[in-house]
Amino acid sequence: MNTHRFLAALRREPVDTVPVWLMRQAGRYLPEYRKLREEAGSFLALCQDPELACEVTLQPLRRFDLDAAILFSDILTIPEAMGLGLYFIPGQGPHFERPVQSPAAIDRLAMPDMHDDLGYVSAAVRLIRRELDGKTPLIGFAGSPWTLATYMVEGGPSKTHQTIKALMYNEPAAMHRLLDLLARTVAVYLNAQIAAGAQAVQIFDSWGGVLAPAAFREFSLRYMHDIVAQLEPAPDGTHVPVILFTKGGGAWLEDIAATGCDAIGLDWTVDPRAARRRVGDRVALQGNVDPMLLYARPDVIREQVAANIDAFGPAPGHVFNLGHGVTPQVEPEHVAALVDAVHEHGAQARSA
Ligand code: CP3
Repeated sequence: MNTHRFLAALRREPVDTVPVWLMRQAGRYLPEYRKLREEAGSFLALCQDPELACEVTLQPLRRFDLDAAILFSDILTIPEAMGLGLYFIPGQGPHFERPVQSPAAIDRLAMPDMHDDLGYVSAAVRLIRRELDGKTPLIGFAGSPWTLATYMVEGGPSKTHQTIKALMYNEPAAMHRLLDLLARTVAVYLNAQIAAGAQAVQIFDSWGGVLAPAAFREFSLRYMHDIVAQLEPAPDGTHVPVILFTKGGGAWLEDIAATGCDAIGLDWTVDPRAARRRVGDRVALQGNVDPMLLYARPDVIREQVAANIDAFGPAPGHVFNLGHGVTPQVEPEHVAALVDAVHEHGAQARSA
């Protein structure tokens, strides 16, 4: 039995107040993170050392009254383990030394070994669960096949996604082979995190929203559906809820709900009242607050938090979050104001 309000809200059960966690709750806006990254030498060194990944995961929980921890890692661990040569250019984001840009390159790829190549991720999950000691539930995660493919094919961040879209239009069969390999890999990877102790999992489809509707269904949604179908229960037999977050996916909430996911992550372009009407009581809803709200004054943050909670309404199944990650220049005090406002206003709204 689990009584954590985050897990209860994902099951659409009544809660005492609205649970809150934040995408990128660990990261560069925290001075203790910047210090540890400096000592470790790089972001990847933090991810690949279970003790350091555990420490970074816990950093935001020491400062803020968060209702969930999220594994400190990255979605690009999978292509890195496939041998693409991941590196980061400061201020420019992730790049690959060997991008995958042809059917022949796709056919040379293989599923990485969860133990030999990605064992550090499961080790971090086990360590974090031990440190959390049942106090706060732990979220595992992976990228969606489409989102992983965008980085693997473009070789780095892209505004237009012209390389992967050309490949998708010219060579749909090869694109499907790549996405199918990634979907099988993500399912095995998330199941390894679940076996190690992840109590909920989120799939980040950060670039699903760049697709046209039919292409979204064919090249992104379908593979997330396949992953959801392959997820296993926790070692104790309980169902592990899965959250699908398609940034820019507001037009397709009904289709996303139909994958069998437990919750949908919303970006800030979606009206929460309309979202709830459209998906009914099929799924929990998470997110939606403009990440730039954290640059406003604390009193304004508190007002906006209250308005957001009211917009989701009294139905069970709301997890407070941003519509995308916390950005590097945010003041930690503003995050504290936001988290406290969620619990305060959430408790009033529940008892009203
Ligand atoms: O949310 C958390 O606190 C958990 C950790 C986490 C990271 N990345 C840490 C990270 C999670 C869940 C991710 C997911 C991720 N990684 C996504 C999906 C979410 C999204 O943002 O859309 C994507 C697309 C990536 C790929 C990636 N990794 C990018 C684009 C970047 C550069 C980001 C930037 O702002 O420069 C990274 C690096 C990264 N991943 C950092 C962190 C804390 C910054 C690394 C650093 O410089 O210290």
